[in-house]
Amino acid sequence: MTTEFPKNFLWGGATAANQLEGGYQEGGRGLSIADALPGGPDRFKIVQQPDFDWTIDETRYRYPNHLGIDHFHHFREDIALFAEMGFKCYRFSISWSRIFPQGDETEPNEAGLQFYDAVIAECLKYQIEPVITISHYEMPLNLAKKYGGWKNKALIKFYQLFAETVLTRYHQQVKYWLTFNEINSAAHFPVMGQGLVPANGANDQRNIFQAWHNQFVSSALAVKIGHQLDPNLQIGCMILYATSYGYDSNPVNQLATLQQNQDFNFFCGDVQVRGQYPAYTKRLLAEYNLKFSDLDWTDEELALLKAYPVDYIGFSYYMSTTIEVTQQDHASANGNLVGGVKNHFLKASDWGWQIDPTGLRIALNQLYDRYKKPLFVVENGLGAVDQPDAQMQIHDDYRIDYLQAHIKAMAGAIDDGVNLMGYTPWGCIDLVSASTGQMSKRYGFIYVDLDDAGQGTLKRYPKQSFYWYQKVIQSNGQNC
Ligand code: BG6
Repeated sequence: MTTEFPKNFLWGGATAANQLEGGYQEGGRGLSIADALPGGPDRFKIVQQPDFDWTIDETRYRYPNHLGIDHFHHFREDIALFAEMGFKCYRFSISWSRIFPQGDETEPNEAGLQFYDAVIAECLKYQIEPVITISHYEMPLNLAKKYGGWKNKALIKFYQLFAETVLTRYHQQVKYWLTFNEINSAAHFPVMGQGLVPANGANDQRNIFQAWHNQFVSSALAVKIGHQLDPNLQIGCMILYATSYGYDSNPVNQLATLQQNQDFNFFCGDVQVRGQYPAYTKRLLAEYNLKFSDLDWTDEELALLKAYPVDYIGFSYYMSTTIEVTQQDHASANGNLVGGVKNHFLKASDWGWQIDPTGLRIALNQLYDRYKKPLFVVENGLGAVDQPDAQMQIHDDYRIDYLQAHIKAMAGAIDDGVNLMGYTPWGCIDLVSASTGQMSKRYGFIYVDLDDAGQGTLKRYPKQSFYWYQKVIQSNGQNC
C-alpha cells in the first residue's frame, strides 16, 4: 500500500459491555435492558410485540447477555490477547447499571467503578488507549420500566450524573470518549438505544424525537463536564452510517436518497456536531404529522447544544443501502436496522448485510466534507459462521478479505484528504450479537468457544485473522 496512515493512528478493536461482560448480577450490578432481551433471531420480533414489558422469563427464553462471553472474569486474558495483536486502542463501554444499578440513585456503586479501574489499568499496562462509550445499547432496566426510557426528561439528570461520575473518575487515564452508541438507530429500532418498545411508546414517533432531544442535551452535558475536567479530552458522537445510493437516475429516487441521508445518516450528527437542528427537521417532523411545538425543547437546552458540540465523529460502517421509492418490485435488503432494496453489484453476508468497501470511502468523504472534524471508524466487520478444525484453528480468510478491502477504502479516503483518527473493528473478540442474540454470528479475531445454546468451554483461540491484523498494525497499515 502506498498510503501513509497517520503516525499515531488508533488501530484497535471494539466491544460493548452488555454483549461481552456477563457477570450480570455480580459486584452489585443492577439489571439492564439488554438483560431482558431474549436470544435468537426472533429477538427483535419478540420485543416488538405489544405485550412485551421487559419481564425476564427464563422458562420461555434464553438470555445470552447474562453470560456474554464472561469477560467479567476473563478481561485480563482478553486484553492480553488484544495487546498481542498490537492494539493501540480498545473501545469498550461502561455498563450503566454496574455504576448506578437502578439508574436513579444519587451515589454510584463503588464495586462497579473498581471493575473499570481494573479494565483501564490492564489496558494502560500494555499502552493501549481506552476509548470509552458511555452508553452502548443499554440502560438500567428500572429506567425503562419506571420512567419509560429516554422519552422521559428525568433521564437527562440520571445520565448526567453517570457521565460525570465516570468522566471524573477516569479522565486522567482516558482521553477518548463517545456519548451514545449509534444514536440514530432509534429511527428504525428504538429498543436498545432509547429503551422504547410498543408498550412504553415506541410506536409514537413523537417519543422517538423527544428521546433523541433528551439524548442530545445529555451528550452536550457530557462534553461540557468532560471539557471542564480537561479541555484536551476528545468526546465524540457515534452514528450508524449506511452509505445510501439512489437505485437509478430517476430524480424521485435521487430525492429520496437525499432525504434518507438527511433523516438517517445526518440528523443526529447535524445536531451533535453543528450544535443545532438542521433546516430539514421541519420536513422530517411533518412526515410524522409533528411540528416543533409538539416537542419539549427549551431555549436553555438549545443553547446547550450550541455551546457543546462533539469533538469528533465516531461511526459504524458495515454496509450500504439502495433507495427505490417508485413501488417497483424489488427484493429488499436486510441488515443493520437499515433496510433498502438489494444492490445487484454487491455480495452480502450470511445475514444479508451488503458488503461494500467503496461505500466506506464515500462515507468518509461525505462525513468529512460535511463536518470538517476528525473521523473515527469505531465499528466495521463481517458477521460470519466460523468452523474451527480439529486443532481449533479457524481459517477465516473471508473475514480478512472483508477487513482488508475496508482498510484499503480508508487508505483511499486518507489520500482524498480525510482526517481519520483510527479504526476499531467490531467484536474484536467474538461476542453476543446485538440484533439476534446469537454467538454464531461472529466478528472476532479471537474465537470464543461458546454456542447459541450457551454451551462451551469459554476458551479463547486466535483465528487466522488475528495474525493478519497483528501484521497490519505492526506495519501501520502497509502490510494489509
Ligand atoms: C452495531 C452495534 O449496530 O453493530 C453493535 O453498535 C452490534 O452493538 C454491531 O453488535 C453488529 O451487529 P450485530 O447485530 O451483528 O451484533
